[in-house]
Amino acid sequence: MKIFLDTANLESIKKYNDMGLVDGITTNPTLLSREKENPAQIMREIVRIVKGPVSLEVVGTTYDSMMEEAHRLKKYGKNVVVKIPMLPDGMRAVKKLKEEGIETNVTLVFSANQAVIAAKAGASYVSPFIGRLDDAGQDGMTLVREIVQIFSNYKFTTNVLVASVRHPMHVIEAGKIGAHVVTLPPDILGKMMAHPLTDKGLASFLADWEKVKKENPNLSF
Ligand code: G3P
Repeated sequence: MKIFLDTANLESIKKYNDMGLVDGITTNPTLLSREKENPAQIMREIVRIVKGPVSLEVVGTTYDSMMEEAHRLKKYGKNVVVKIPMLPDGMRAVKKLKEEGIETNVTLVFSANQAVIAAKAGASYVSPFIGRLDDAGQDGMTLVREIVQIFSNYKFTTNVLVASVRHPMHVIEAGKIGAHVVTLPPDILGKMMAHPLTDKGLASFLADWEKVKKENPNLSF
């Protein structure tokens, strides 16, 4: 399972990238709006720091505007994946960008039918938003299961990128289903690393070692 960070926060990206935990990044206009720096500078910097795929989203909603933005965003770097909303004009853009050798991530996917359409158009990734479905009283993970099964039945090469992840259990469930990628807000990656028994165990190891040092003042190793 690949782990992407769902953020435009450079500090978090550097922190987890230095631990070797970041396979890629997804951003969106909302995530960029939360940062102080200029969005163009942020995008340029993310693409420079992270070696894996970096999804940068278009804000146009017509074919021409999406294509024009896609070409501009792609200039940020080879690893840019253009994020396109699930719209009819978006699918036309996905098809054309694929012909041009440009990877795409179809975003705002809320049904298996939309995922099939995006895959048929030629998307490299589809992003089901599972947390938002859960919020609306639908089971987001059921959608992931359906998409993974359909793609597997027909050997579609489009990656299932689980987005709008809200807690570590979402990650475990997505992994059990076999989703290719999960994109996580940085705090969820932090939560995945932590366990109270790890903290308790470490505190007890260190306390016991202090006793050993007291009993053997000249101890060295
Ligand atoms: O990658 C999409 C994601 O950012 C949406 O998450 O938490 O706004 O539903 P959320």
